[in-house]
Amino acid sequence: MKHLKFALMLTVAVSSSVVLWVAHAEDTKPAPAPNGITLPSGYQDWRLIAVSHRTDNESLRAILGNDIAIAAAREGKTNPWPDGSILGKLVWKDGTHETWPAATVPDKFVHAEFMVKDATRFADTGGWGFARWLGNEQTPYGEDANFVQECFGCHVPVKDNDYVFTKPVMIPPAP
Ligand code: HEC
Repeated sequence: MKHLKFALMLTVAVSSSVVLWVAHAEDTKPAPAPNGITLPSGYQDWRLIAVSHRTDNESLRAILGNDIAIAAAREGKTNPWPDGSILGKLVWKDGTHETWPAATVPDKFVHAEFMVKDATRFADTGGWGFARWLGNEQTPYGEDANFVQECFGCHVPVKDNDYVFTKPVMIPPAP
């Protein structure tokens, strides 16, 4: 009986801390973008599509994809990208390597931004939903849902490439 009581108390203690932990995790998830897109969870572990360096604003970028985007990139089926693809771009300010000054390396984290492919939901913006979160705090970018016009407008010159600038990088195939 004593054992049973202890086991019961333990179960209550463990399950209430799980509830608290889950509630806490939800509290700390960054707010959605003003157009309702939520920060894709686990994007930090996505695989590489390409890298880029912008000399006009001195920053380095890693362009990553979720599983659907990576499969499309590897098969060369990216015009159009299939529904469900998400492209992520992580941006850092240029830094200089302390022992090798000729090497430009990532410094301060600037933002993470995403293009979410859903030809129906985002028909007005070329089939892509745009969203950006700023800094380590991951603050959603944009006053209201109209911020996407700024994103979309700048991606229009690459309309013929499904509004995507990035060309998936060549990686030698696995043996
Ligand atoms: C001033 C022009 C400009 C604006 C505004 C802009 N982009 Fe881009 N975007 C680019 C360019 C150029 C690239 C490719 C070069 C690079 O990697 O930075 C790019 C690349 C991307 C990529 C990687 C896929 C691709 O198209 O190559 C994503 C994701 C992205 N932008 C999201 C956004 C989001 C979200 C916004 C709005 C919050 C936005 N962009 C606004 C110019 C712009």
